[in-house]
Amino acid sequence: MKLLQAIFFVWVIGLSGCASQTGQPVLYDRLGGDAGVTAIVDNLLQKMARDEAIARHFRDTDISLFRQGLIDKLCVVSDGPCEYTGDTMRNSHKGFNISGAEFDALVQHLIHAMQEENTPIAARNALLGRLAPMYSDVVYQ
Ligand code: HEM
Repeated sequence: MKLLQAIFFVWVIGLSGCASQTGQPVLYDRLGGDAGVTAIVDNLLQKMARDEAIARHFRDTDISLFRQGLIDKLCVVSDGPCEYTGDTMRNSHKGFNISGAEFDALVQHLIHAMQEENTPIAARNALLGRLAPMYSDVVYQ
């Protein structure tokens, strides 16, 4: 009986590790987990680098640190098993005077990056829905 209980316990813990309370896999896994989120971020960074309106904000940025911070942030936002040790969104964007149009442009780049990385459409929209409320912490801080 003890063994059965132990197996059931391990099964429940295992399930809770890969599924949300709705029974769907957590968003992080629907984005492709570590490999998927990393591929999305790397694709996005290339598009951001080619867009001068966005790239100009990053002239003094250590891009490898920013890349890791963004990977960790998207992981946490999508309920992944990560820790984001960076500053708040408001503080991270303070003083950059980022416009609403620039925010929209970055979102467009993210949409195209996710399309190119074959992220399923429901997962794309779910991530965008979680990022949208950050608008007021990013724009004109
Ligand atoms: C929802 C959208 C956005 C998210 C989730 C986001 C995420 C982040 C994160 C996590 C950091 C800190 C990275 C670290 O730990 O070093 C950061 C910093 C930054 N972000 Fe954003 N960001 C968003 C929108 C934007 C937009 C639209 C722009 C400009 C067009 C922008 C420009 C910057 C800049 C310049 C920094 C600071 C880089 C530095 O420290 O030098 N972000 N962002």
